[in-house]
Amino acid sequence: MRLFETGALLLASAGLVTARVAAAAACALPSTYRWNSTGALANPKSGWASLKDFTHVTYNGQHLVFGSFHDTGSIWGSMNFGLFSDWSNMGSASQNKMNPGTVAPTLFFFSPKNTWVLAYQWGPTTFSYMANSNPSSVSGWSSPQPLFSGTISGASAIDQTVIGDSSNMYLFFAGDNGKIYRASMPIGNFPGNFGTASTVVMSDSTNNLFEAVQVYTISGSNQYLMIVEAIGANGRYFRSFTSNSLSGSWTAQAASESKPFAGKANSGATWTNDISHGDLIRSNPDQTMTIDPCNLQFLYQGRATNSGGTYDLLPYRPGLLTLQH
Ligand SMILES: *[C@@H]1O[C@H](CO)[C@@H](O)[C@H](O)[C@H]1NC(C)=O
Repeated sequence: MRLFETGALLLASAGLVTARVAAAAACALPSTYRWNSTGALANPKSGWASLKDFTHVTYNGQHLVFGSFHDTGSIWGSMNFGLFSDWSNMGSASQNKMNPGTVAPTLFFFSPKNTWVLAYQWGPTTFSYMANSNPSSVSGWSSPQPLFSGTISGASAIDQTVIGDSSNMYLFFAGDNGKIYRASMPIGNFPGNFGTASTVVMSDSTNNLFEAVQVYTISGSNQYLMIVEAIGANGRYFRSFTSNSLSGSWTAQAASESKPFAGKANSGATWTNDISHGDLIRSNPDQTMTIDPCNLQFLYQGRATNSGGTYDLLPYRPGLLTLQH
């Protein structure tokens, strides 16, 4: 290739980069969300009543999903799906039981130490984690390690999530009690135990701040997004909050049942009223938990509109929302 051709190519690719930055900057989070939805993407395997509490990363170009299950008796457990390349293949992916159980899991790649981390509840400590170099396997995980050994007053800590900025790692969790809690540690100490202390970062009615908190870095901005599952008159739905610091306070964004982050009012789903515990599809599997508002999707748990009965046996299934621009 002659020199001037190289120059032209460089100019052309510089133009592309500019165009891409402009496109990225154009995708702020909407103030009003509107989604479409798939139907239920998978049925639980024989002996299981439900598939729940999904955490998702892209791994080797494929979808990797861990979740909880409840069997048709009285047992909670956890599982992963064998890797699948397209959401339409989720229903035929293998469903593999985890041992020990890692209920309500959070999966991410901790880049400073090159290791995958799976955080969960109902292990040996309030929250625990296991590490692995191959996240797609149900084997090879380390023994359970303490992630948080504190308790909260008058309630049980539930539904952890973990996120980092350049200097600290943060643990957020709920209590089914109208409060969202935070703990933190220097990033150099992670993976490790956040200890026993936590701070209440939000307080409201039990229904308004129930569970399934998730926190994300919004790509191309200095903002973070928190979503929290609420109990509404028409089913479970998510409320959203933003902050410019993971150690800061949170401002309500799309936080009513009639104009939620995601719920019956705006999901576009017809098979489920509930939009419940799941994970936004991240553009990076690392500890920054980064999402791209240009391509926002939400892997959630829903259940047939005519289902009911005992909470533990509700027939939750995965579904996928896609933000409509
Ligand atoms: C949802 O909308 C996207 C475009 O934003 C489209 O590609 C997709 O096929 C739609 N999915 C469903 C289930 O309607």
